[in-house]
Amino acid sequence: MGSPDYDLDAVRRRIPLLRPLVLMNACSHAPQSEPTRAAADAYLASWDRDGMDWDLWMEEVERARSAFARLIGAEPADVAVATSVSQATASVASGLDYSGERRRVLVSGAEFPTVAHVWMAQERFGAEVTRVPVRDGVTFPEDYEAALDERTLVVSACHGYYQNGFKQDIPVIAELAHARGALLYVDAYQTLGTARFDAPASGADFVASGCLKYLMGIPGIAFVWVRPGLAERLRPALTGWFGRREPFAFDAERLDWAEGARRLDLGTPPVLEAYIARAGMEWLMDVGLEAIGAWTRTLGARLVEGGRARGLELLGTDDPDRKAPSTAFACEDGHAVEVALRERGVLASARGPAIRLAPHFYSSLEDVERALDALAEVREGGGA
Ligand SMILES: Cc1ncc(COP(=O)(O)O)c(C=O)c1O
Repeated sequence: MGSPDYDLDAVRRRIPLLRPLVLMNACSHAPQSEPTRAAADAYLASWDRDGMDWDLWMEEVERARSAFARLIGAEPADVAVATSVSQATASVASGLDYSGERRRVLVSGAEFPTVAHVWMAQERFGAEVTRVPVRDGVTFPEDYEAALDERTLVVSACHGYYQNGFKQDIPVIAELAHARGALLYVDAYQTLGTARFDAPASGADFVASGCLKYLMGIPGIAFVWVRPGLAERLRPALTGWFGRREPFAFDAERLDWAEGARRLDLGTPPVLEAYIARAGMEWLMDVGLEAIGAWTRTLGARLVEGGRARGLELLGTDDPDRKAPSTAFACEDGHAVEVALRERGVLASARGPAIRLAPHFYSSLEDVERALDALAEVREGGGA
């Protein structure tokens, strides 16, 4: 597959930063694009023109919620708006009850630290955190099976591992968790936007993501989907007025819970971010997540092959079916490599003793080759 099933040049023309740079940092931050810049301009124009237009701005937040729902094959009523994945996770975690026998939280070693931290913070409310190990950069379903028991309340398993792009098998983990009566929380920040993902069909009970990486947005907004019917079990201690049935009743005497996932909404939502988030997600959906998935798989496979051909040490799996596009290579000092690559016009992302090359739907095969050549040159140059 030498080119994607969409007009790659047309996509690339909408991202000015692709002219001077090779962008391999999608696992960390999306580039600015015409659609997202236009969305930001629309907010700034509204703010400048009207001072405030809460009706319009709240409508925009709802449109962003709906776009996220559509992206994951879900309904807007089952999506909460958050400001980060940390907050989304904390909102969900604060809504669970750790006082019974079933109080264990099984956290995969592949979680981004923030997610693990949130679960650990629930220990003061009775939660007991147990772990699933990462072995050779990947996790194994049998380790989940061995760690699960009838005391497990919730399993926290990210979809894509931020360190090396390894994709955990969510349907399999969901089946194992549910067989023991546990819930499954999935942080899909490293995969959403790179391929089609159907949250209801995945078996997960919660799916969270922010927008600043593969969803082409910026920091400050995130979403969490809650399996229909499950939200009613949650009484989030981390709450705010937008989690009420009627926020604009301004009733400080009554704590009620909005229907569905909205009870996880918190304070005044991130309006500018919602404009941008919707533009990014709608662009991805217009291009087509099926086609994007096929192309990012090709790019990921090329990184693995090309890295091998250049003698680079791959971290994590080489199985294209189990990989997000982000691909990690070993190095002594990831930060030094990141700086050296930037000097060569390649934006990559370091994580300790690893450098991640993370292409996206806008990337070409030439980008992949140029990035690998630059990395091989830096590695041969010694030091990093
Ligand atoms: C998988 C994953 N989860 C969570 C985060 C952090 O989320 P937030 O900063 O929105 O809390 C990141 C990266 O920054 C990530 O890669």
